[in-house]
Amino acid sequence: MDVSDEPERHTQSDALVCFGMTGNLARKMIFPALYAMVKEGALNTPVVGVASSGWSLEDLREHAAESIRRHGGVDNHDALRRLQSLLRYVDGDYRQRSTFASLKKALSPSRAPTYYLAIPPALFGTVVQGLSADGLVDKARVVLEKPFGRDLASARELNRVVRAAFPEGSIYRIDHYLGKEAIMNLLYFRFANTFLEPIWNRNYVSSVQITLSEDFGVEDRGSFYESVGCLRDVVQNHLFQVLTLLAMEPPGYQEYAAVHAEKFKIFKATLPLTPRDIVRGQYTGYREEPGVARDSDVETFCAVRLYIDSWRWAGVPWYLRAGKRLGSHAAEVLVELKPPPQRVFDDAARPDGLGNYIRIHLSPRSAIALAARVKRPGEEFVGDQRELYLHDAEPEQEMPYERLLTDAMAGVRRLFVDGDTAEAAWAVVEPVIRDHAPAIPYEPGSWGPHEADELISGHGRWHNPGLD
Ligand code: BG6
Repeated sequence: MDVSDEPERHTQSDALVCFGMTGNLARKMIFPALYAMVKEGALNTPVVGVASSGWSLEDLREHAAESIRRHGGVDNHDALRRLQSLLRYVDGDYRQRSTFASLKKALSPSRAPTYYLAIPPALFGTVVQGLSADGLVDKARVVLEKPFGRDLASARELNRVVRAAFPEGSIYRIDHYLGKEAIMNLLYFRFANTFLEPIWNRNYVSSVQITLSEDFGVEDRGSFYESVGCLRDVVQNHLFQVLTLLAMEPPGYQEYAAVHAEKFKIFKATLPLTPRDIVRGQYTGYREEPGVARDSDVETFCAVRLYIDSWRWAGVPWYLRAGKRLGSHAAEVLVELKPPPQRVFDDAARPDGLGNYIRIHLSPRSAIALAARVKRPGEEFVGDQRELYLHDAEPEQEMPYERLLTDAMAGVRRLFVDGDTAEAAWAVVEPVIRDHAPAIPYEPGSWGPHEADELISGHGRWHNPGLD
């Protein structure tokens, strides 16, 4: 598949500017990714950090080293020194013209920078307007960290503000799930095989489950989490991206623009959620976490049931579930097939609550298994469901942020989210963002409130990943 249909945008960026360079995301993800890029030879331009922390360049260099030591480790001191020597630092308030004047100086003589906004979306507009006012947007690209807005109206407004300064082809909306090997494999697995297509539809599939379970809490991100909650944090973006790759029609031609177009159609065909399609939960102890309101109703668990009203999927329920402090740390898809049409053997029609299925384990390992029944040796015609592994790989080496930032600097848009698609995804969840029942408490280490089991009970039960 061609990487892009916009060859004119394939100029390599000659600087990377990171707003929010002293923040949490930079510490955990961005510095380790930049270090990996330097090791791979994918980064040798100036890297300008912008923040309002009152730091010096020396502080930033030391912070970079510390962050890489803690998150991944240093196995190449030469590469670390090279990264440190590429760093520049601009300290200032994003609302002040002087910050952008200093940035202009720090960037000189770069002509085609990539601006990466690793800051809360409420600040995107301020920064984009600051860049624009100082004539810093020509030939530049802008990478926007998730979440892309808080709801449909704010996503529309963000698109309006950013598109006023940059053409859509220069805007890169990040969803780091798209940079994961196992997620890229979903697209490949679906369309590089012939055996799937005849069964990959409403005639054979009875339901689809997508679970992202985390066994840890909100840690030091309590105040951020209070402003998003589970639905906005991982369902509307990460799990929805997985859903589109599973549900989309084959791309009409061999370019990523065709993939993006098909994903957009899935969101347009998905019926907007109603309050009856969502169960929200909150783990016991969440309200005592730093930065969290004592009477918070923010959900740390969320299960939704949705329907895609298309020729292929009409009537098939899709169950998505995510949460913190659950029973395991894993991400998995389970596509359950319908039982055989005739009951030749008594045990073949879901005796253990699960029909034949295709299980796609996304994290921490990447694995695909097909489950089918086989007879037990003996006189009787009874059997068990056995999994045939098609693929089982260790966790990937390349980090999603390394892949995504390398692509953005090269002008490759294949793994980013289109503005219209981001809006269409918000439209699906819009009706339940404010209109929902209160979050139901659940015990840490459990699988969320039992109301989530009721949500799926018409079509079987949840399969809890990471326990097999
Ligand atoms: C982030 C969320 O986008 O994704 C986090 O903000 C979540 O809350 C994380 O833990 C999950 O990503 P991964 O790659 O660890 O599965």
